[in-house]
Order: sequence, then C-alpha cells, then structure tokens
Amino acid sequence: MCGIVGYIGKKNAVPILLDGLKRLEYRGYDSAGLVCTDGKEIESCKAVGKVKKLEKKIKRSRFFCTLGIAHTRWATHGQVCEANTHPHFDCAKKIALVHNGIIENYDKLKKQLISEGHKFESETDTEVIAHLIEKYYSGNLKRAVQKALSYLVGTYGLAIISKDEPDKIVAVRHGSPLVLGVRKNEYFVASDVPAILPFTKKVVYINEGEILEIKKSGFRAFDIRDRKIKKAIKKVKWQRGKIEKGNFPHFMLKEIFEQPQVVRRAMAGRVVLKKGEAHLGGLNIASKELKNIKRILFIACGTANFAGLCGKYIIEELTGIPCDVELASEFRYKRQILQKNTLVFLISQSGETADTIAAMREIQKQRIPVLGISNVVDSTIARETQGGTFIHAGPEIGVASTKAFLGQVIVLVILALEFAKLNGLSKKIRQKIIKGLLIVPCQIEEILRQAPKIKRLAEKYIKYKNFFYLGRKFNYPIALEGALKLKEISYIHAEGYGAGEMKHGPIALVDSKFPVFAIAPQDSVYEKTISNLEEIKARHGKILAVATSGDKKIKNLADDVIYIPKTMEILQPLLTVVPCQLFAYYLAAKKGLDVDKPRNLAKSVTVE
Ligand code: M6R
Repeated sequence: MCGIVGYIGKKNAVPILLDGLKRLEYRGYDSAGLVCTDGKEIESCKAVGKVKKLEKKIKRSRFFCTLGIAHTRWATHGQVCEANTHPHFDCAKKIALVHNGIIENYDKLKKQLISEGHKFESETDTEVIAHLIEKYYSGNLKRAVQKALSYLVGTYGLAIISKDEPDKIVAVRHGSPLVLGVRKNEYFVASDVPAILPFTKKVVYINEGEILEIKKSGFRAFDIRDRKIKKAIKKVKWQRGKIEKGNFPHFMLKEIFEQPQVVRRAMAGRVVLKKGEAHLGGLNIASKELKNIKRILFIACGTANFAGLCGKYIIEELTGIPCDVELASEFRYKRQILQKNTLVFLISQSGETADTIAAMREIQKQRIPVLGISNVVDSTIARETQGGTFIHAGPEIGVASTKAFLGQVIVLVILALEFAKLNGLSKKIRQKIIKGLLIVPCQIEEILRQAPKIKRLAEKYIKYKNFFYLGRKFNYPIALEGALKLKEISYIHAEGYGAGEMKHGPIALVDSKFPVFAIAPQDSVYEKTISNLEEIKARHGKILAVATSGDKKIKNLADDVIYIPKTMEILQPLLTVVPCQLFAYYLAAKKGLDVDKPRNLAKSVTVE
C-alpha cells in the first residue's frame, strides 16, 4: 500500500528518497513521485509505474536539494495517472505533501474549497489537504496543518513541506503509521522502517495524533492539544541482510525456504519436552486468570485469519474451550458481543492492518483487553495491545504471506498447549505433541527437497483456469489458504472448500477442466475425504493430492500426489501448507508474473 519517505539533512535528498521508495516497493503501488526544495525553488517529479521509471525521469532533470518528501501511491480515489500521483500541491505550488490513508469527507471539503476559488488538479482525496493548509497558512506551517487537520475525517500519515519554510518537514500520524529515523543533523521520515534502515537504526515511533516539526538541527513533537511531548529514540533490531533476496529469484521463495528456521525460532524457549509444558511470554495474564477463560476470539484478515482458523481447530481439540475467528473487516462494524472471560487476540504479520487495528480500537472502547500475535516488533498492534507475543519470523517482504502463517500457527499450537495443561490434558499427550512439534522443522526440510517435483507439477497444471482446494477438519483452513495463495500471485481462480461441502453446490462446477488440489493426509477424516475425492473422480475431475507418505490408496485415485511426512493430526497443517505455497509460487513464476508484488495488492493493507 502507499509508502512515504522524507529526508532533511546535509546530503542530496534525491538518491536517499529513491532508495527509500525502492525499499517500500514490496508494499505494492502503481505510481511514484517526489518533491524537493533547495530553499529557493520547489521541484517535483512523478511517474506512473515503477520507481525505476521515476528515477530515469529524474536523471534527465537537475535536482539537488537537501530536503524532500516522496511517495508510492496505491490508487484509491482516482485512476492511476500522473495527475493523481503524490506529491500534491496547493494553488500557489508552495505547499507540497504526501499522504497515506483516506480522507472520508474529501468531497464536501473539495466543493467548499472550489467555491472559495481553489483550483484542483487531481481526483484524489489527498489534494484537499494541501488546499486546506493553504487556506489557513499565515507564515507557520505547523499551525496551518493543525488547523487543516481539525476539518478532516479519515486516516492519514502525512509529510508536508513548504517553499516559504524550506528548513522543515511537518509529519503527522492519524491512523496510518509513520516513523522518524534519526542521525546526527539528518532526519528521515517513513511509513515503514525498511525504507530508512540503510541510513539509520535509531528511530522515533510517531504515535496516534502526534505532529512533528523536523529540522536539520532537531525535531519537536506535539500531541493533539499542541502540548510539547518528549519522544524516546529506540534502536531497531532489523538486519539489512534479512531484507535482501540472496540467491533466491524472489522473496517469496526465500521465505518459504526459511520456514524450518522460522518454526525453530518460534518454539525457542517456549516448549519444554521433559515437563510437557509450553509457555508464551508477554501475554501479561496470570495462570489463574487464564484458567478462567471461557472463550477465545481471534480477529484477523487474509492469511492471518486462516492461521486463526487453524488455531480454532487445535485449541478446541486440545482444551474444549470454544474458539471463534472473525474477519476484522466484518467485526469492526457489527454488534460485538464480548462476554466476560473471553480472551481476544489480534493476529497480524505486519501489525499495521487498518481493519485489524480498527477492531482493536472498538474492543478497547469497551475496556476489554486485547492481545496481539504479530511479527513486526514496535508495530501499532504490538504497541497498542495490552499484551501479546511475537512470532519472530523475521521481515516478510513477499506480498503473499508464507513464513508468517507458519509462525502464527506454531504460536497458536503453543497457546493451545498452555491452555491444555490448565484444562487437564495429560502430560503424556502434551509431551507427544511437543515431540511432534520439535521434528516439524526437519519434516518441512523434507518437503522442501521435493521443490523440483512440485515445480514440475505446477508446470503441468498451469493450463487450468480454475482450481478447487479441498480439505477437512484441521486441513480445512489449509484449503482456504492454498486457494488464496494461488489466486493472489498467479491470478488463477481458486476456491477453498471443506471437502464435505462439495455436494452442497460447488461440485456442479467439476469437470475435466476444473482440477482439485486435495489436502488429504491420513487423519481422522481420511476415509471421508477419500469418498469426497471419489465423487470428484466420477465427474472426470483431475486430482492433485497432498497425502501422507506411504499412502498407496490415494495413488490409485489421484492423478498426482505430493507426499508429506507422517505427523500427528493436529500438526498436519504445519506441513500440508508448504506444498500449497510451493505450487502457487512455481505456477506464478512460470507465468512470468511479479510474484513478490502481485497486481492490485499491498503487503500491509493500511487503508480500509
Ligand atoms: O499483516 P497482516 O497479517 O495483518 O495482513 C493480513 C492480510 O492482509 C494478509 O495476510 C494477506 O491476506 C496476504 N497477502 C496473504 O498472502
């Protein structure tokens, strides 16, 4: 989704801004632009398409400025074209800004501003902000911004500069993340830490409602009531190497192959085989309170939601505690019935997903504590929840979430084990599960060794335009996740279903041109799944199955089989998801698609 980078210091801002924009490319965007000032002139450049195009255009002009702001736009209001690309300006072309978020009342404000004589050049909601600031400007940019903001409804992360005050950037956060990078006599503004990582690891997290006035010599922060506030400088722990592809052609493939390590890290220090115990630090809840929990609720979007669904099956099986999973985008607007003794978790890789954050705020309004399961330390969800835990998967750059999903499910298994002990599951069974968990990394490595075979299968099935992904019980969420992976990166239509649902409608679509990707390991519903697949076969449907190693029966039924090692039923999703990820990856890569940055998508969905 849209990205912001800003720089003020002693160096040429342009290469720094372009470098930052490139590091934000993974977020997804359709156009890019920047604006700089040398104190006399204000110069800008925009390009539709990749940052490289912007870079080429800039090379032809003569930019040298020590202050500038830049943006990658993911279109919301108005088409993808240069006019709609940020930065946006006021009428006098003295004020320029870049914006992440959505201004909901822009239409009304625009009409008012037009009636007052303001001339608009774009179809965006953002441009109204520039004109509003112009309207209230009388020599103090920060004050004009504060006045303008009081009329806005919506979300915004903003970086603003003015030709009349060419020594500062004003930055604001309201519902859209923003961070300040700090170096001696140099400051960096960004919507996302990776943008500034090569320049500094010292950051100041800008909180909701805060406004910063940033100069080369220092910065001042103010709260919503314009009171000066002290901000702490923190050191980020991200390593640059972790956000480079290494020898892999795509981040997605690298991240799939990182999964054995991700599982090891997510378990480290959290499971003790001898005692049959598992524990997640950071929940900030005493065992006594945990014991009283009567219901668990997971709220998340996309892949994180499917991880929550895996958690539901596992927790209910091991603890008997009812578990619900809600889509954040639905939950935030419906009547929220939260009884006492319900434990609410938000699951989010980025910790910045707008709908998930909105759901969190809705619950917090009712004074109910919310916990987070996230990957990005210091993300909004990590900072604003009452407690929570990290999956420690390392930066996930590919838009398609892979290793974060696995990390989330591992954390949920650990949570299930913790609750299971409190709810009386025997030590022997808990030890058996932990034993199974501890060998999962090696089992994933075994599946990864089959990558060349899965690649060949992807190439065989590339001709199909539609796919069903079927699974049951613990593997039902994997059917949903497998289908999501395929559609988001290969643009092939895929639907995930519980295999038992086929007869209730979807089987009508099955014929020789509509293959089924069946997740059918040997589990307690194996025979049922086999019957469902027989019904597919009877309708000439092609079957590609993921099955347990040594399963001969399925060989006679399926056209192709990918084998996974044997494990306990509740742990199967940790293995069955891997062939789904590889299949989707190889299919999209064979089609020559931009696997890491699929069209129309963004890594973190920071607008509604
Ligand atoms: O950062 P989050 O985990 O909150 O993101 C949630 C979804 O946007 C994300 O999982 C999305 O569905 C992925 N593109 C799926 O691969």
